[in-house]
Parts: sequence; C-alpha cells; structure tokens
Amino acid sequence: MSLLERVRNQGETEAETGAPAAGPASPPAPQGSRLAGAVTEAAEKQEAQRQAAAPSPAAKAAAPAAGPGWRERAESARQQEQRHTTHPQYSVIKSQVTQALLEEYSDVSKAPRDTLVAKIGELTGAVLEDLSISITRNDRQRLVEQIVNDILGLGPLELLLKNPDITEIMVNGPDQIYVERQGRIHRYPAHFDSNDHLMQIIDRIVSSVGRRVDESSPMVDARLRDGSRVNVIIPPLALKGPTLTIRRFSKDPFTIDNLVEFGTLTQEMATFLRACVRGRQNLVVAGGTGSGKTTTLNVLSGWIPDDERIVTIEDSAELQLHQDHVVTLESRPANIEGRGRIGIRELVINSLRMRPDRIVVGECRGGEALDMLQAMNTGHDGSLTTVHSNSPQDTLSRLETMVLMAGADLPSRAIREQIAAAINIIVQQARLRDGSRRVVAISEVQGFDGEKVLLQDIFVYQQEGLDDDGRVIGGFHAVAEPKSLPDLKAMGEPVDPAIFHDPQPSAADSAA
Ligand SMILES: Nc1ncnc2c1ncn2[C@@H]1O[C@H](COP(=O)(O)OP(=O)(O)OP(=O)(O)O)[C@@H](O)[C@H]1O
Ligand SMILES: [Mg+2]
Repeated sequence: MSLLERVRNQGETEAETGAPAAGPASPPAPQGSRLAGAVTEAAEKQEAQRQAAAPSPAAKAAAPAAGPGWRERAESARQQEQRHTTHPQYSVIKSQVTQALLEEYSDVSKAPRDTLVAKIGELTGAVLEDLSISITRNDRQRLVEQIVNDILGLGPLELLLKNPDITEIMVNGPDQIYVERQGRIHRYPAHFDSNDHLMQIIDRIVSSVGRRVDESSPMVDARLRDGSRVNVIIPPLALKGPTLTIRRFSKDPFTIDNLVEFGTLTQEMATFLRACVRGRQNLVVAGGTGSGKTTTLNVLSGWIPDDERIVTIEDSAELQLHQDHVVTLESRPANIEGRGRIGIRELVINSLRMRPDRIVVGECRGGEALDMLQAMNTGHDGSLTTVHSNSPQDTLSRLETMVLMAGADLPSRAIREQIAAAINIIVQQARLRDGSRRVVAISEVQGFDGEKVLLQDIFVYQQEGLDDDGRVIGGFHAVAEPKSLPDLKAMGEPVDPAIFHDPQPSAADSAA
C-alpha cells in the first residue's frame, strides 16, 4: 500500500470514528462540507472582528514583519484572506474542473502555468454554466483564484505565505491550521480537503527544494527559496495526520532599529552589544524555542566588520549576512541508507581549517559546543552562537552538558574553566506571555572561582505585571558595569560607562 493510500485510509478511519487516533479531536466536518480552504461563517466573523480591531501600540511593538512596504503587503494579504470564502458547491465545482483539466492535460506539471490558469478560468465558467450557478464577476474571479491555488499552488497556505504579517504557520493534519501573528497564535479558519490533499501540498513544498517526504523519510527539515524554514512529519509518526510547521522570515531581516522599536532591547543595550561584537567578544544568544535567538544572532553578526572573513554554520541556512566575505555552510542529514550525514560538529571542525576570523554557529545543540569553545579559546575571538536555555545560569549548565556529549572524558572543573575562558557575554532572550520578544538579561562571564563560573548581570528586564489586555508591563534596568570595558576600549570600542549606571527609560515604556 502506498503512503498516500495509507494516509488517506487513516483520514477515512478518522472520518468514520469522528476522531483521530490520538490527541484532541477537531469537530468532524461532514464529508460534503470539507471544502478546500472552506471558511465557516462563525470563524469568518471571528476573523473579521480580529481584523477590525486596530493593533495596539504594544502589538505593533511586537510586530514581526519589517522592511519597506510590509504594512501595505500585510494589508493586501489580509484583504485577500477576507476574500477567501467559498461557494457552497466549491468541492463539486473544483472536482469537475480538475477532472476536465486532467482530460486535457495528461501531465499538468509540464504545461505552462499561464496556460493552465487561463484554462482553469475557462473550465470554471463552463462548469458553473452546466450546474446553472450564477455568481457575480467578482465571486467568480475569487472562485477561479481559489481553484488555481488548490490545483496548482499551495491551497489554503498560498495566501498565508504571501502575508508578511504571519511569522509561523502550523498545520496539524488537514483540519487544523494555526498561525502566529504579532507574537500571538490564532486558529486560522480554513482546512484542507483531506490527508491526501495536504500530502499533495506538502509534496509540492518539499519537492520544490529538491527534498521528499515519504515512508522512508517521514521527517524533513527544509528551507524554502524565500528563506522560510519548513518541518514536515507525517503518519505514522504524527498521529493527527501530516504535520507541517513553517517559520517565516521577513525578506528584509530585522535590523537593530527594528528590535529597539519593538521593545526587544534598549538603545543602550544595543550600544553595548555592538561594542562587544566589534571588540571581538565571544557571545552566546540564549533562549527558548522561538524566542528570537536566530534573529538577534543575525543582527549581532551584522556588526562584524566588513574586512573579516566569516564562516557561518547552520542546520538550515537562516542567517542573512550583508557582508561580502562570508562562507555559508549547511549540515546535511543522512540519506535513505542512513549514510552521508554531516553534522554541525564536523562543519565546525572543518571551518577551523578555512582561516576564519569569526565563526558563527546557528545553534549549538551537542558535541560541537566543545569545538566551538576551543575555537573561541584559540584565536577565533568574536565568535557567536545560540543555545537553547532558560536563563544565563542554565546556559552555562547546557554548555557543560553539551561538552560532555562530545564524548570527551573531561572533569566538570576543566569544562567550566574552558567555558569561563571562552564565553564573554550571554544575551538571554525570551518570548513573553503576550508574544513579545525581549532580551531579558545581558550577562557577563567574569571568570572561574575554582568551582563555578562567575556570572554578572549587566542589564536585566523586569516584568512587573500584565495590563488589562494581557500585555506585559515591565522595564529594562542597568545593573552593573561590565569588567570588559577596558578591553573594549583597547579594541577601539569605548563605551560610555554612564549607560551602566543611570537607569535608562526602558524601550517597553516608550513603546507603550
Ligand atoms: N525581537 C523580535 N520581536 C518580534 N518578533 C521577533 C523578534 N525576534 C524574532 N521574532 C520573530 O519570532 C519568530 C522566531 O524568531 P527566531 O527564529 O529568531 O527564534 P529562535 O529562538 O531562533 O527560534 P528556534 O528556537 O525555533 O530556532 C520569527 O518569526 C521572527 O520573525
Ligand atoms: Mg533559531
């Protein structure tokens, strides 16, 4: 039995029992009403209300899309979404159009897109006539657009992917789509026809970047041409049906000005971090999933001077550096026979033979931490990476565990000494309850006392409460003067010590 058949069977079993094999059941839609991208009336109202509500300043502060014209693009995508309603007989119309199209073109993938779009328009007209359905010109245009998206494009995802306002798309089987906008997760009122339909769209997405997902490789990580990161996991590993997660990145990556404007950090914190990067301090950006580590790493990397050779190492190349002299390395998963895997660690080791001035590792997750620390300790000052952790102290523990994962039989003391010598600054980031991202601490590693690594907070964010709309109230505080100031000065990056003493008005306050 082919995978598609199995996926389809599972979908049918679910439809029969009214519940997926596990996990919370989404309300089973009657088969006839499972229209691709169908929008229920209630959900439509909910979406209209949401769109009518003007974004609050804080929501604007958390607004993740940037770059010239993004607001216009977001608005036009929103309007298109609103138009994404379907005729009650959509599935009948679509299936007749599809059938007629396949009769004319044995292989749709070989025909030019424009011809197909024109043909779909023509066939839709004919089908509407056959079924004696009369609709307005505008409605018909929408119907054609939607059929084109379903047959040739990415179905309900097509509009979402065009909307720069959406930063994450999460599809949990055919019936559930969630999106993240302005840091908050919303249910998107559309669904796919079936598991089969969703699998076709997934196939389209992954095959467009030369990957495939099937029984032998049921999990795929890929990067789309627009830079978005895609993860797919399908049954039997995912019990609810094919599951797709797309992390969108703005075409124009965030700048430090954007982050300050969003209230992620203050201008003073930015000034200090800039001096640290230019003054060749080794930095770790730490935080939880989706807390904005990669985004901050990208901004920090942007400060590396143009005359330095940078080697970036990532699982899927997300960093977008503007410097000229950049070598981008990407790890490779094992092939079907389980061979050929090249991990981050091998790439870090290899990069040391490439005469890098700086090494930027997208994320340290395992044994590469040891090589990274060694690199930082042996002439590759100013290297940058991210670590998944919840606090600066936790970052140190994670690093220690990761070094042990390298298989080196080193005593804890030696590892801590190595960490203390290598890392200068930890930039701790968090995604707060209201969806905003903040640098919750900038901490300096100040040495090793023979037992533990000494950490000193330089700036912290203090959350003081929530306002009536559930938005976080708080402020940034300067805590201490870093010990690295003389070193930074010696590197030609003097920083005014005043910014570490006088409590500055916080970005959060000024954004609110
Ligand atoms: N400072 C910020 N303010 C608002 N949104 C942000 C900010 N930084 C990142 N984002 C958005 O949050 C999402 C997650 O960002 P990013 O990929 O940088 O996080 P991450 O911590 O690297 O995630 P992961 O743990 O999955 O690698 C992205 O869609 C990004 O556009
Ligand atoms: Mg990341």
